Amino acid sequence: METPLVEVRNLKQYFRLKRGQIVKAVDGISFTIEAGKTFGLVGESGCGKTTCGRSILKIYEPSGGEILFRGENIRGFGRRRQAIYRKEAQMIFQDPYSSLDHRMTIDDIVAEGLHVHFPKMTRKERRARIEELLEVVGLTPEYGSRFPHELSGGQRQRIGIARALAVEPEFIVCDEPISALDVSIQAQIVNLLEKLQRERDLTYLFISHDLSMVKHISDTIGVMYLGSLVEVSSNKSLYKRPLHPYSQALISAIPIPDPAANKEAKRIKIEGEIPSPINTPPGCKFSSRCRYRMDVCETMQPPLTEIEEGHFVACYLYHDKEGEVYADPVVG
Ligand SMILES: Nc1ncnc2c1ncn2[C@@H]1O[C@H](COP(=O)(O)OP(=O)(O)OP(=O)(O)O)[C@@H](O)[C@H]1O
Ligand SMILES: [Mg+2]
Repeated sequence: METPLVEVRNLKQYFRLKRGQIVKAVDGISFTIEAGKTFGLVGESGCGKTTCGRSILKIYEPSGGEILFRGENIRGFGRRRQAIYRKEAQMIFQDPYSSLDHRMTIDDIVAEGLHVHFPKMTRKERRARIEELLEVVGLTPEYGSRFPHELSGGQRQRIGIARALAVEPEFIVCDEPISALDVSIQAQIVNLLEKLQRERDLTYLFISHDLSMVKHISDTIGVMYLGSLVEVSSNKSLYKRPLHPYSQALISAIPIPDPAANKEAKRIKIEGEIPSPINTPPGCKFSSRCRYRMDVCETMQPPLTEIEEGHFVACYLYHDKEGEVYADPVVG
């Protein structure tokens, strides 16, 4: 099998607060992203998605676990290797407005990475490259002399994408890139990202709090809850047969376009509030809100276990503490 482009192994990212409390933002997650594919990372606000993305980009030093990029442990990157990694792995953000310097013209914003990573480029070459990048993201060169506030939300996100593409990355963390946009614009940006992926063989970590948003773009999806991955599956298998009670609830909440079917659809309501990531329960983190809660769920965290080929779940309805899969699941 080919080496995955990104491999996350038991990643932990803890933050120590001023009063000595520890926030377990990411608490031992593992997954891989194959080159040229999209891994959708989904979960409610505060579950650790952005922290995971930032850890992969080596913005933080992990509290535990490893991150491999094309088989190379990023922890061991020296200064030179790190400088190259900064070009290989890029990020685009939810709110392109706050992530774009409002005093800079679009040309200057897109050119920033070019100055850093291609210092030998002549002014003329840079000019041509900026125009090409604007065209690639669907904007004419005239936009180059404008400022971010003169652009619409969708156009600003196109600039965010052009800026990331400027340094010719292989991997992009797309952190909620469409969440702040009008529904009518969301599909345009997803289509653009998909087109760029095909043309440039890009690999994405696509973060969203909404399962319906990752559906079209993701090859594989990871569902996160309070710092843990509760389910990892191929796109098709997850929507066809979600296993974890949390994923089941998230999927049941997705509106169905047909109004009659939407009215008939059974919604699974999640009871209670998401617990604080400071004092997480010892067993399954979802147990305090789970309608199938059993005694075992409150004592030991269930291991992420492969139930069907490529479909993993961390839930005692399907397997025991050793990861032995039940022939007859408790429910489902
Ligand atoms: N630098 C930090 N210092 C302390 N706590 C942090 C820090 N960064 C994140 N956290 C905490 O870690 C948890 C996970 O945050 P994170 O931003 O990764 O979640 P998220 O899933 O991206 O949420 P959202 O959907 O709101 O963007 C939260 O409880 C957050 O408050
Ligand atoms: Mg976030």
